[in-house]
Amino acid sequence: MSFNNKLNTRLHNLQQQQLYRSRRLVETPQDVTLAINGKSLINFCSNDYLGLANHPEVNKAFKKAVDEYGVGSGASQLVTGHQKPHHALEEELADFFKRDRALLFSTGYMANLGVVSALAERNDEIFEDKLNHASLIDAALLSHAKLSRFQHKDTKALDTQLITSNAKTKFVISDGVFSMDGDKADLKSLINMTQKNNAVLMIDDAHGIGVLGKNARGIMDEVEADVFQSDLPIFVGTFGKAFGTFGAFVAGSEALIENLINFSRSYIYTTAMPAAIAEATRTSLRLIKQGGNLRENLQARIIQFRDGCNERGISVAAAPEYGQHSAIQPLIVGSADKALMLSQALQRDGILISAIRPPTVPVNTSRLRITFSANHTAEHVERLLSALSRQLC
Ligand SMILES: Cc1ncc(COP(=O)(O)O)c(C=O)c1O
Repeated sequence: MSFNNKLNTRLHNLQQQQLYRSRRLVETPQDVTLAINGKSLINFCSNDYLGLANHPEVNKAFKKAVDEYGVGSGASQLVTGHQKPHHALEEELADFFKRDRALLFSTGYMANLGVVSALAERNDEIFEDKLNHASLIDAALLSHAKLSRFQHKDTKALDTQLITSNAKTKFVISDGVFSMDGDKADLKSLINMTQKNNAVLMIDDAHGIGVLGKNARGIMDEVEADVFQSDLPIFVGTFGKAFGTFGAFVAGSEALIENLINFSRSYIYTTAMPAAIAEATRTSLRLIKQGGNLRENLQARIIQFRDGCNERGISVAAAPEYGQHSAIQPLIVGSADKALMLSQALQRDGILISAIRPPTVPVNTSRLRITFSANHTAEHVERLLSALSRQLC
């Protein structure tokens, strides 16, 4: 078979299984309404949880920084790409998350690859929740350590695995808010398990920061006691979600950050994020710290949605075991073709929600990954509920 035939066969197989992925061409800026093919749709599938991706103050900071620093960063961080805005953002993040230091990465995917592959060595073992984001799984596969997975949030099973492991260094890695389910890691229990078993805990709270907690620090801000650096030595967050910009950071001890600067290949061998992105992100951080009513609006819309589903007999994800609702509220429908058909029917009805199918989620758990933004109005949510009722009730 020729190479091209092989490529076409693979695509044909995906089509047969309703697993073919294609892109939509969005004609408008990021917002809670988008235009696709000239049609306006209410957007319930982006990660712009606080509506900062096209916020006037964030846009202004970006434009001003382009005038001051240019567009490109010119080189990697270790050559000439580390500029004042990057440094200032790192210091502000370290302060906000109460860590010694923070380090910027160009994306969350690269942060996870770079941290795990830099730290986990041949005789080490990495324990990961089965529903961790793909970047965390790929990160472990790229390292020379052994990867063991535990059932979703089953910290008792994790404990047994940790006790029986004789690895030199044991790493426990979990999403904070799980990206496709919207539920939260049992942080307290993970801290207990890692401390009891002398393991190192790493949490990627890409979907929690900015949204959850008293001060918007994510799930670590929702547990009763302070989560110190010694409890959670490796903390990852990304800017492409609630922060509305692009990139990521890792926060932790001085020694951790210096190790990453020296050993993390996805930090060292890549062009630095542009300074203007760092400046825009500093403005996002300021808006998040200010609080305002962004997070209140977001919670109000999520509660409106959940109450509306309950009234209509549409089954929603379980309420969180602690803290506030995450912005991710999936409706699990089962088969890939059902999820796809539902997504297409909703789009005809003016609602944009993408169907999430394997391998992103386990087989038979295809879903509509519904996400909310602080910019959604009560009327947007009513429109969503009516559209869902027409399809499901
Ligand atoms: C938990 C988690 N970590 C990391 C990433 C990757 O971040 P980025 O989009 O910045 O590469 C994502 C999603 O994109 C995610 O959901």
